[in-house]
Amino acid sequence: MPVIRITPQTLPAHVAIIMDGNGRWAEARGQQRAAGHRAGLEATRLAVRFFAEQGVDALTLFAFSSENWGRPQEEVEALFELFVSAIEAELPELVEGGIVLRFIGDRASFPSDLQSRMREAEQASAANDGMCLVVALGYGGRWDVMQAARRWVADGAAESEDPEGTFEDYLSTAGLPDVDLLIRTGGEHRISNFLLWQAAYAELLFIDTFWPDVTAEELKQGLAWYASRQRRFGRVMPREGGGHA
Ligand code: IPE
Ligand code: IPE
Ligand code: MG
Repeated sequence: MPVIRITPQTLPAHVAIIMDGNGRWAEARGQQRAAGHRAGLEATRLAVRFFAEQGVDALTLFAFSSENWGRPQEEVEALFELFVSAIEAELPELVEGGIVLRFIGDRASFPSDLQSRMREAEQASAANDGMCLVVALGYGGRWDVMQAARRWVADGAAESEDPEGTFEDYLSTAGLPDVDLLIRTGGEHRISNFLLWQAAYAELLFIDTFWPDVTAEELKQGLAWYASRQRRFGRVMPREGGGHA
């Protein structure tokens, strides 16, 4: 098999990850699910560092979905506490590393201390020009399309010359490129209401590893796999060249 090289041309501009498998990772060890979420934070740190070093423009991480509100209150509270402490602990290094932090999702029902930390993190990193780290909290793809549609119609943008283009300006990911590579860990083969519009043409990579066990080597293999894809976008490609491969 030819060695697939990861070059600037074959590097995804936008990687999105459904970080799944924390609970099963903990349960397999006889631990509480919250311990799995804490272990998952280590993998998150590793992934952020890895993709920033690779030079991707944007990394979007699914940390809490609209549907995750349906989990036991104890788990939801443990997650919120973890988010607050993680933002506090990680922010200085992220800012130092040039990362721009952005949160997407419906944050209105979050505890006020979490909302404050999110706002502070966005403000503290807004002037940076490195990788955009998007954390999806209270996020659902349907919520995103609905909130965009409401404002798009209210602004009269539906009447513009480029309605699809203007619609994208109302999505929570406005200004970011479409998702090129969507990775889901934990063995499930589904989107779970993640970036429904933005991942319309993403390459989908499903891996069995539980999120806390993910390694940089595995992420690197993911990039190599992406580099080997021929992206056709509905067109017919010539036999030679075309796409990445
Ligand atoms: C993903 O891991 C993290 C969140 C949804 C917050 P899970 O908690 O879904 O882990 P599993 O899928 O139950 O193993
Ligand atoms: C998706 O994982 C949400 C996050 C990773 C934050 P879930 O574990 O909530 O998804 P389902 O329930 O298996 O579809
Ligand atoms: Mg899960």
